[in-house]
This record gives sequence, C-alpha cells and structure tokens, in this order.
Amino acid sequence: MPVIELANCTGCLKCVKDCPSRAITIETGDIADTCIHCGHCIAICPERTVFPDQGEIVPLRPHSVTAEDFSLFTAGIRSCRSYQSKEIPENLLVELVTNIKHCPSASNARPLQITIVRTTEKIQLLNKLTEDSLIKLISFVTSPFISLLIKLFAPKMDLRKLKRYQKSFLAQRKINDSLICHHAPAVLLFHGPSSKTGMLEADANIWATYTSLHANSMGLATCFNGFIVKALGKNGKQNHHFDLPESNRIYAVLLIGYPKVKYKQECSRNGPKVNWA
Ligand SMILES: Cc1cc2nc3c(=O)[nH]c(=O)nc-3n(C[C@H](O)[C@H](O)[C@H](O)COP(=O)(O)O)c2cc1C
Ligand code: SF4
Ligand code: SF4
Repeated sequence: MPVIELANCTGCLKCVKDCPSRAITIETGDIADTCIHCGHCIAICPERTVFPDQGEIVPLRPHSVTAEDFSLFTAGIRSCRSYQSKEIPENLLVELVTNIKHCPSASNARPLQITIVRTTEKIQLLNKLTEDSLIKLISFVTSPFISLLIKLFAPKMDLRKLKRYQKSFLAQRKINDSLICHHAPAVLLFHGPSSKTGMLEADANIWATYTSLHANSMGLATCFNGFIVKALGKNGKQNHHFDLPESNRIYAVLLIGYPKVKYKQECSRNGPKVNWA
C-alpha cells in the first residue's frame, strides 16, 4: 500500500477525493485495507508526498498525441501476416513489455505473465502444436454424429468454414509452411493462472492491444492470434515446451515483427452500430 508522509502534506485533499475506495484518512495519513493499489493517490499528489510501496515516483512528461494523430495512426494499423526475416532487437522487446505496467487491469491483481517466443524452432513448434490440436478438434466436430448434434443445437456454427481451415492447415503443412505464426520473428504469449472469477482474458487482450499500438509506433507490425489461444490456451498440457507453468492458461497471443507490406489506403469498413440510451 502507498505511504503518506504527512510532513509535506498541505491538506489539499486531492488524494482523498480521487481515491476510488475512499481508503485515505488524511488527518492521520492512514490507508485502509480497502485500498485497491491503483496508485491514483501517488499520481495526483502535487507535493509528491505519497510514496509507492514498490518503484519510484516518476513525474509525467508532456506529450503531443492529438486526437487527429491517434485517428491517423490507428487507421494505418493492420494485422500483419507477412514479416521480414529481420530479428527484433531485444531492447525494443524489453521496452514493449516494460510499458505494460501502464495498462489497466481488473482489480489490480496483475498475475499475468508474458513469454516471448523468438527462436525459429519454438515458433515452428507453436505452429505444429496449434495445427495438430485444431485439426483434431475439427475432425471431431465435423464427424457425422457430432456434426448432426451441432446442426441441431448450435446451428450457427459454420462447420464448412472449419473444414476449410482444416484443409488449408494440411495443405500448408505439405509445403512446409504454416498459417499460424506467419513467420513472425517473435510471438508474445500472455498467460496467467486459471480463474473462473477473474477477468484475466480481458486484461490479456487489453495488454496485447496496448503492446500492438506501441509496437506499431516503433515501425513494427503485429497480429493477434486466436488460433493459438483456442488450441493451446484451454489447458496447460503443452505449456512445458515454452517454460510456462502447467497451471497457467494462455489468454492472448500477439505476433510481432517488421512488416514486409505497406498499406496505402484505409480499410473500407463501417464502424459499429451505435445506440444512444
Ligand atoms: C482476438 C483476435 C484474434 C485473432 N486471431 C487471428 C488469427 O489467429 N490469425 C490471423 O491471421 N488473424 C487473427 N486476427 C486478426 C483478424 O483477422 C483481423 O483483425 C481482421 O481480419 C481485420 O483486419 P485488420 O486487423 O488488418 O484491420 C485476430 C484478431 C483478433 C482481434
Ligand atoms: S492506491 Fe488507490 S485505492 Fe489505495 S489509497 Fe491510493 S488511491 Fe486509494
Ligand atoms: S494530495 Fe498530497 S498534499 Fe494533498 S492531501 Fe493528499 S497527501 Fe496531502
């Protein structure tokens, strides 16, 4: 929990008013155990007299991302499936994962970890394990009896699309290629303990989204990968190949690398339907 040094406190009450859990008694400098460790009191104190229990007080510096900059920047970000064979310097990967401390998370527990897979052998293994698992799963759901049940009870499931995926996995495998990691030089696995009540999947996707934006600001490109999450995320059977704890689940996956392609036009698609209530 943060610590308030009352000697320099002017009693402005900024910390008290901004505390989401009303945990601060400023007269005594006490913080109740309802504190959710959000750090707002540290960030808001004009006297820098609220101290974190970990790390230092880092003053914010001015920046200049306008709303127009953000819109133009995001318009150019696309999922990349064609990467140069250039490695990403380690310091950039470190910068990307270090910045994740700025991402929000449900309840501030932050048990998620990130594993950076970046050897060709391990990435090929990711491809193989994912394809094996999906090919098996698709064979099961498209088998005569199960597909009959699916048609009855989950008629929206597109079995023909699944079959098409299966066919392309097998076809690409024959030519020693893969549709999973698209030859990206690095793959980020966002993983954490299995939790029925937490929101780790949401945290992981938010962290991956921030990381994707950050990576694009460095001239890198990214692609989310749902195949790996679906194939390997549900149980920890294959975790040992990548030194993940067996009890962890993979909640989000992001491919990263230098793009081979450059887009000239925005994507022409509509925004979501918006309702006003
Ligand atoms: C959660 C999520 C999972 C995705 N999984 C994959 C994937 O496994 N393989 C892939 O090639 N693209 C994947 N994508 C990328 C989408 O196909 C892509 O965002 C969509 O086609 C729109 O294209 P754009 O991102 O270039 O605008 C995923 C995207 C999201 C958000
Ligand atoms: S860390 Fe957040 S919840 Fe805890 S005392 Fe500070 S503002 Fe309140
Ligand atoms: S924000 Fe800082 S100066 Fe203001 S009341 Fe809180 S501790 Fe004191």
